[in-house]
Amino acid sequence: MAKKPLVIANWKMYLESPEEAKAFAQGLKRKVKKIAGVDVAVAAPFPFIAEVAKVLKGSGVKVGAQTVSAHTGAHTGDVSAAMLKAVGVHFVIVGHSERRAQGTTLGHTTGETNEVVHAQLVQAAQAGLSPLLCVGELERSADGAHFTYIEEQLTSALRGTQGLTGKLVVAYEPVWAIGKGKEFAMQAEALEETVIFVRKILADTIGRASALKVPILYGGSVEADNALQLVTAGGASGLLVGHASATLDSFVAILNALRGIPRKI
Ligand code: PGA
Repeated sequence: MAKKPLVIANWKMYLESPEEAKAFAQGLKRKVKKIAGVDVAVAAPFPFIAEVAKVLKGSGVKVGAQTVSAHTGAHTGDVSAAMLKAVGVHFVIVGHSERRAQGTTLGHTTGETNEVVHAQLVQAAQAGLSPLLCVGELERSADGAHFTYIEEQLTSALRGTQGLTGKLVVAYEPVWAIGKGKEFAMQAEALEETVIFVRKILADTIGRASALKVPILYGGSVEADNALQLVTAGGASGLLVGHASATLDSFVAILNALRGIPRKI
């Protein structure tokens, strides 16, 4: 049976109340009943996860978190992979560019490093969750330095993870394309080339057989008008959707654009 495209809503902080999140989840549950041929998931903010998971139980829509602690034990303010699992989480985003972004606060460097992302991925996988690893360059360069950057993100996140990649999903999200309008998304031809590159690095890092099982999503200014092109011509296994997942209508429009499309890998 052909695999279905996987479309994940990354709500970020767009939905601001539990009531809003619950209403979205109830609406989505109704809508997906009529949309065959697409796998759907929602990455919710921590305070809404338990409620959203309750609403979506049995609907086929998987619920995820947007980050996870790199630790276990005494870490004030952190949320562990085991805690997420206990409230119905299936997958966890690790390494999103908005969390990797480097800055300084009161003289301390902030932003998650490749080492932190690796530790988060291991925590998620060891707890039986599916790690959704985000990678992507800040900018493209004529000498192809962006490929080296992506390779480094992949290999450092995945080093020593043999036996832990069974549920791995990768999202390629070029940072320069995130959070804009559909005209700023990556072009399908360039995406196809990058998806092949990501698959090759995965094969070199975790082995070819394992690499062929990993869905590679695209994210960055996905909207209903470019969704189909990015999956068919771009060769992505699915999409990670930010701003267009902030309302039920714009998210469902993307699901409808992809219904029944066979996915390559
Ligand atoms: P965007 O966000 O769709 O708003 O570009 C994607 C993401 O950051 O995951």
